[in-house]
Parts: sequence; C-alpha cells; structure tokens
Amino acid sequence: MRAAGVREVGGRVELLDLPEPDGPGPDEVVLAVEAAGVGNWDDIVRTGAWHVGLTPPMALGVEVAGTVIAVGSDVTNLRVGDEVVGHPLQLQHQGCWAERVVVDAGLVVPKPRGVSWETAAAFPVPALTAEQVLAEALKVAENETLLVHGAGSTTGGLVVQLAALRGVRVIATAGPSSAVRVTQAGAAEVVDYHDAGWPDRVRELTGGVGVDAAVNAVSGGSADAILALREGGRMATITGDPPAAERGISVADVYVRPDAAQLAELCALLSGGRLTLSVGAVLPLADAATALERAISGANGGPVVLQVAPGRTGD
Ligand SMILES: NC(=O)c1ccc[n+]([C@@H]2O[C@H](COP(=O)([O-])OP(=O)(O)OC[C@H]3O[C@@H](n4cnc5c(N)ncnc54)[C@H](OP(=O)(O)O)[C@@H]3O)[C@@H](O)[C@H]2O)c1
Repeated sequence: MRAAGVREVGGRVELLDLPEPDGPGPDEVVLAVEAAGVGNWDDIVRTGAWHVGLTPPMALGVEVAGTVIAVGSDVTNLRVGDEVVGHPLQLQHQGCWAERVVVDAGLVVPKPRGVSWETAAAFPVPALTAEQVLAEALKVAENETLLVHGAGSTTGGLVVQLAALRGVRVIATAGPSSAVRVTQAGAAEVVDYHDAGWPDRVRELTGGVGVDAAVNAVSGGSADAILALREGGRMATITGDPPAAERGISVADVYVRPDAAQLAELCALLSGGRLTLSVGAVLPLADAATALERAISGANGGPVVLQVAPGRTGD
C-alpha cells in the first residue's frame, strides 16, 4: 500500500510502498484512511524522540479519519462501513499516513456529523490536548482568568474555545493576523506577543494581580507566560519547556494521550458547532514532506492535512 514516512529514524519523509496489514487482531479494526492530520509533533516521531509503537520503515501520522473495512473477532462497537476518527496510539502496524491503518477499536470514535474528512482528521490531537490541559492539568473553573499564550495556533485556539465554553475569562496572545479569529474563539482580550512587554500588559488587564492559570502553546514560551501568573497560580505547557517553579506557582508539563470518551465528547461539540476548526492546508499523500515542513513552519492559518484516499473531491 502507499504510505508516507521514513525508512530510518531521522530519515527524510518520502513515499513508501509498505505491506498491507495482515488483518485486524481480535480487538482491532482496519481503516481505509480518508485523511490524516500533520503536526509538528510528527517531526518528533520522525526523529525518534516520541515513540508511537513503530519501527522503520514506517508511515508517520498519529491522527486519522477513515472508514472501517475489517473488524476483529472481539470488537463489538464497530462495523464495516463505520466512519471514525482517532488518535490511536500505540500504533501496531503502521502510522496514519497510509492507505490503510490498523487501530485499537477502543481508540476510535464516530466521525463528527457534518464535518469534512479533513477537519475530522486534524481534530483529535489538538482537541484532546486542549481538553486535557484545561480539565486535568489546570482544572480551570468558571470565572477564573486564563492566559492562553500562542492562541493563534491550532491547539491554542481550541484551548480558548473550550475555556470560554466553561465560562473562563480568557486573555490570549496572538499576532495581528490571528487576533480576530482568537476573539471569535472566545478570548475577552488579545495581546500582541510581538510587544516584548506583553506579560506586563496581561497583568495590567487583571488589575496588576496576574492570571489564575496559564497555558503555554509556544515553543520556548513558558518563561514569559509564567510572568503573567498570580502568586500561587497554575501553569501548564504543551511545548516541553516547563519553567522552574516560582512564587508558589504549580507547573505541569502536558503530553497528549488517547482518550476515546473525551474525544467523543469533543466531536459532539464540533458537530454541534460549539467548537470550530478551519483547516489551513490540504495536500496529497505524495506531498507529505512538504506537508510536514508546512506544519513545522506554523504559517498556515490552521492545521495541515494529508488527503489520503485517491480521487475524492471532498465531503
Ligand atoms: N504536548 C502535546 O501533547 C502537544 C499537543 C499538541 C501540540 N503541541 C505543541 O503545541 C505547539 C502548537 O502546536 P500547533 O500545531 O497547535 O501550532 P500551529 O497551529 O502550527 O501554531 C502556529 C501559530 O503559533 C503562533 N505563534 C508562533 N510563534 C509565536 C510566539 N512567539 N508567540 C505567540 N504565538 C506564536 C502563530 O500565531 P499568530 O498568527 O498569532 O502569530 C502561528 O500562526 C507546538 O509546539 C506543538 O508541538 C504539543
């Protein structure tokens, strides 16, 4: 089958001809992949710093939308023809940038109704991350004030939306081209991070006290974000750069984990229009290397997606 990935850890991304899956194990299903998300986290897999269960030659890709084409003997929740999405780690056969992928049946959920394959494929990782940061790491509560640093990013934008749905007052950092989108996502105030004194500006917006909690979605951004927190506040970073604790502030270093129940609830919010996600770029599987470069650049105005099923013209 056609796939895109690497022949060795750290190798360049290229089209691969990989063996078809043998078939699903008892608890697995095989998906015909329609679309697969691309994030800069795929580069962490490529370079071997995030082990997702595979050894090269391997397809990359840790989020998928597709149709069930084979069902394991013990699977009761899915049937052939079901349309599903997921962040199905650990992967057993290959990654999601492939025509077919074998996944644990307990890690995929129905594709949100009325949502394109591309949007569905780009949703699981950033949505799960956003939910886990807010509900588990920070336990944000209604009427608290939350800083979202990097709200112009896909993940940061979902953090803003989910926090606003909880009745949290969001102060966001974003550049001029994302400010309107971040406001529409639910931020009460948007501060331009290009102004080096932005943490002071955030503190001013809280009467000089500082925010109750902060999410950092900017690589290397935690050291600035912590300056905007109040004494005894809570900080969570998703970019692996936890700062040293100071002023009684708790610091959480958050990494996404698969959670089908959470993903199903998030998909319900997406299909109900309470969450939105606009895809930034759609490329064919053959352009996976370019897709990954674009995801790393972050300059797409939304997530990057690989359209895997050939000959499809959209949803
Ligand atoms: N730990 C985990 O499990 C996990 C999960 C998901 C994502 N992540 C990480 O979270 C980060 C965001 O990922 P993503 O895919 O959501 O990003 P993305 O959509 O590619 O983000 C790009 C956006 O980030 C904003 N940005 C860039 N530099 C900035 C800065 N110095 N200050 C504030 N905003 C800045 C820009 O927005 P403007 O338009 O506002 O300039 C840019 O459009 C990545 O580092 C990713 O690896 C981690």
